[in-house]
Amino acid sequence: MQRRFEVGGQEFRYTPPGMTRIDPEPGDQSMFVFKSAEMIAQYRAWAERFRGGRLVELGIYDGGSTALLAKLFEPQRLASFDIKDDVPELTRFIAINGLGGRVFANFGHDQADVDTLEATLEAQMGPEPLDLVIDDASHLYAESKASFSSLFPRLRPGGLYVLEDWSHDHRRSAAMHQMIQADPDGAVSSAVTAALHESGFQDGVSPVTTMARLVLELMLVAAVRPDLVATIRIDQDFAEIERGTADIAGRLVVDDHLAPLPMLLDLRDEAASSQVS
Ligand SMILES: C[S@@+](CC[C@H](N)C(=O)[O-])C[C@H]1O[C@@H](n2cnc3c(N)ncnc32)[C@H](O)[C@@H]1O
Repeated sequence: MQRRFEVGGQEFRYTPPGMTRIDPEPGDQSMFVFKSAEMIAQYRAWAERFRGGRLVELGIYDGGSTALLAKLFEPQRLASFDIKDDVPELTRFIAINGLGGRVFANFGHDQADVDTLEATLEAQMGPEPLDLVIDDASHLYAESKASFSSLFPRLRPGGLYVLEDWSHDHRRSAAMHQMIQADPDGAVSSAVTAALHESGFQDGVSPVTTMARLVLELMLVAAVRPDLVATIRIDQDFAEIERGTADIAGRLVVDDHLAPLPMLLDLRDEAASSQVS
């Protein structure tokens, strides 16, 4: 089924993350976003709060999400970044809508390259603080944490840093477990489990790369430094981190502000061993 909606004269197609993208028919001018209907509703809610604001987006993909931010928020400034080269549809959208001085699409940028990120933002956004940052790029722990360290301090107090699709690995893992349980002779499940194990995955999730690790760390920062991380709101699609009122000089080193949590793994082991056999 081809899902569609329209904002400010621009038509969009959408498919939830993890599903297959549907290509447009020739001549179709709609733009594609990798989001569910619920996620788009959340974007509309943020637009009510941050209309006319200063936004940064990481993860452009086909350009539709950048176009959606431009139409919904009518931002004062929007800078978007992606590691891939060029998306002609987005360049065309910016030109047709006369957004050249306000919306900037930056290609060939790795989100972990914070020096380049900062220099580009300096040039495109100036020194005023940001209202909203949405990270929908690599979904990897180290890369996401690098961008966070640089961009979170640039938010104004009360501004939001959104880690989109943070639970992706875990949802995939749950789906894999369902598939294994439904596998009648176990042949598929043993092959999948062995392959994942060899790649360093545990329960279908890599403890090294999962973005959920950053979300958990930020909860630990909120425990002891609410002036840095004021609130965290989590649902299946988004982790929304509100910046507190502290002055942050330069980048934020998350590891310097973690509340101790020595029991996490022990509790898990204890829970497993206390199960009645
Ligand atoms: C999930 S897609 C973005 C979807 C888009 N925001 C939307 O809603 O339609 C993720 C994008 O992140 C980009 N990406 C992956 N790793 C990256 C990295 N290290 N730095 C910057 N962008 C990256 C990919 O090229 C891809 O276009």
